[in-house]
Amino acid sequence: MDKFAETRFPINDILRRRWSPRAFSDRAVEPEILGSLFEAARWAPSCNNRQPWHYLVARKEEAAEFDGMLHCLVDGNIAWAKDAPVLMISVANSRWDNGEPNRHAFHDVGLASSQLTVEAVSRGLFVHQMAGIQVEKIRETYAIPDGFDPVAGFALGYPGDPNKLSDQLRERELAPRTRKPLESFVFSGRWGQTSPLLKSG
Ligand SMILES: Cc1cc2nc3c(=O)[nH]c(=O)nc-3n(C[C@H](O)[C@H](O)[C@H](O)COP(=O)(O)O)c2cc1C
Repeated sequence: MDKFAETRFPINDILRRRWSPRAFSDRAVEPEILGSLFEAARWAPSCNNRQPWHYLVARKEEAAEFDGMLHCLVDGNIAWAKDAPVLMISVANSRWDNGEPNRHAFHDVGLASSQLTVEAVSRGLFVHQMAGIQVEKIRETYAIPDGFDPVAGFALGYPGDPNKLSDQLRERELAPRTRKPLESFVFSGRWGQTSPLLKSG
C-alpha cells in the first residue's frame, strides 16, 4: 500500500514513499539486504565520528530470539510488530571515553537509523520505529553495560495486507498521513518568524 507524502516542494522519491506501516508480509528479509541496511547506518555522520550507534537484531527464523525481543516492546506495539519478519533495537553509546555525557548521541543514532530506513525503502522494505519499548527489560535481557542506552525499537519487512490487521489497527493504517506546515518550523531572524525562504513555494 502506498501512502505518498504530499509536498509543497519536490523531494526525493524514496523520502516521498517512506511511511510507517503496521502490516507486514511474512516474506523473510534476506541477510545480505540486512547487511546493506546496517552498512547505510554505518556511513552516517556523527559528532567527532564517535559512531555511537548499536543495533540488536532478531529475525523471525530464530524464534526464541525473536520472541525475546518482541517482549521487550510495549503491548500496543507487540500487537502488530509480532508479524514483522525482523525486529531491532537501537542502543546509543551515550558517554565519551572520559565519562562525560555525549549530548549528541541520540541525535547520531537517529541519523544512522534514518539512513537505514531510507536504504530499506530503496529496497522495497518498510521500517516502523517505536518509542514503545521496555528500556529496563532491554538492559537486563541483553546485558547492556553502563553508559549505553536503548533508544528505539524497529519493525521491518516487506509491505503486507492491511486487511489482516484488527479493525482498530487497520483504521490507523489507512488514516491519512499528516504534517505541520513548513511555516511552523522554519524560522529566520528570530524564534517564531517564518523564513522568507518559504515564499518561493
Ligand atoms: C522515535 C519514534 C518512535 C515511535 N514510536 C512509535 C510507537 O511506539 N508505536 C507506533 O505505532 N509508532 C511509533 N512511531 C511511528 C510514528 O507514529 C510515525 O512515524 C508518525 O506517526 C509519522 O507517520 P509516518 O512515519 O507514516 O510518516 C514512532 C516513530 C519514531 C520516529
